[in-house]
Amino acid sequence: MNVRDSEHMIAELNKKEPYELTEKIDDADLIIINTCSVREKPVSKLFSEIGMFKKYKKNGAKIGVTGCTASHLGKDIIKRAPVVDFVLGARNVSKITQVLDKKHAVEIATDYDESTYMFGDYRSNSLKAMINISIGCDKQCSFCIVPVTRGEEISIPSNLIIQEIQKAVDAGAKEVTLLGQNVNNYGRRFSTQVDGAQNFTELLRAVSEVEGLERIRFTSPHPLHMDDEFLQEFANNPKVCKQIHVPLQSGSTRLLKEMKRGYPKEWFLNRCQKIKELVPEATISTDIIVGFPGESDEDFADTMDVLEKVRFDALFSFKYSPRPHTAAATFENQVDNETASKRLQTLQARHREIQNENMQAKVGKVYKVLFEELKSEGRVAGRSDDGTLVMVKGSEELLGKIVDVKITFANITQLTGELA
Ligand code: 5AD
Ligand code: SF4
Repeated sequence: MNVRDSEHMIAELNKKEPYELTEKIDDADLIIINTCSVREKPVSKLFSEIGMFKKYKKNGAKIGVTGCTASHLGKDIIKRAPVVDFVLGARNVSKITQVLDKKHAVEIATDYDESTYMFGDYRSNSLKAMINISIGCDKQCSFCIVPVTRGEEISIPSNLIIQEIQKAVDAGAKEVTLLGQNVNNYGRRFSTQVDGAQNFTELLRAVSEVEGLERIRFTSPHPLHMDDEFLQEFANNPKVCKQIHVPLQSGSTRLLKEMKRGYPKEWFLNRCQKIKELVPEATISTDIIVGFPGESDEDFADTMDVLEKVRFDALFSFKYSPRPHTAAATFENQVDNETASKRLQTLQARHREIQNENMQAKVGKVYKVLFEELKSEGRVAGRSDDGTLVMVKGSEELLGKIVDVKITFANITQLTGELA
């Protein structure tokens, strides 16, 4: 989401005057730090980064802080670091050219509606396009700061989504990733009357009719909204890639309730079982938090049990981090850091074994790979339909093509193959 917000800011700036990206700090006339606030670490990193930029920036260069930390700290950022010229919240990206020349401007309204705003064109990757389908989030997961920083959920009308996709495809995109905090809740609320797709299943159907588009991915769906109709569409629509993120957070029904996730352990297992039944070759990834307040050994054992049963292909795992303005930050029974660290290690170690076994099982199989990048030693890298990194020997004529590849070797993070 942040990467796409950054692209939008570059596009808006370019509407005003031509900017070029630079890797060299002392070259930049404008430095934008686009922040996350989902855990505490990136927030503390922000102020050390501002200090670093202050030291090395060119005389007169501006610094802007944008994104979720901008939303929730607002003018306090300028109070603490007056070198910062402007603060722009995650839901105010379209105002970048307005704040640029106003010293110490702060625009962080979380009720600002950008759901029908037509951003300028800028994409860092011409083959694969990120496409926003909604803004904000209406869930109130008790650990999560996102509803505070990104505001209430509004879906983008499907005609605007299709228009964006058509533009990206006309410019060479083969694949799109539909983006939202909660994509399969699409259609929950629009800010204007719309005729097109009213839910995520209908949206997937409409997107797959865009001529020239070959692949559709999406992130993130919510397990609660994985109804059978949606899973059938995921399984049967040939343009929808067979890769799905199913964020678990915890395997304990008791903790899931405390987290306000809206589903018990059994529902999660049932949905993953259904995915495996419909699409045995699908890869399933997840997010897990350990050390949520009150997490007991039994609760953690439930999480490990789900790990064993689903055998995720990818895991994003985190130690619980108390966040301001969230319900869980006030809960008693915060888990001590040592216990949380141990649980994280146990979880990650077992996941690595499973991931390795899953990867080894791919050897000998044939996958459709979209080639994207030239690598050293005459190799080309791409992604299979199920989202795995694949390398083959080859040259630039493979770039942008979808080709069958037979896998000859696997390690834990990537596959090697030959053109089939
Ligand atoms: N502490 C730790 N992890 C968190 N996440 C969200 N909020 C927190 C928090 N307070 C994780 C969740 C979410 C992912 C994007 O970040 O697992 O799915
Ligand atoms: Fe946060 Fe829950 Fe919304 Fe995801 S669904 S962004 S975890 S509140």
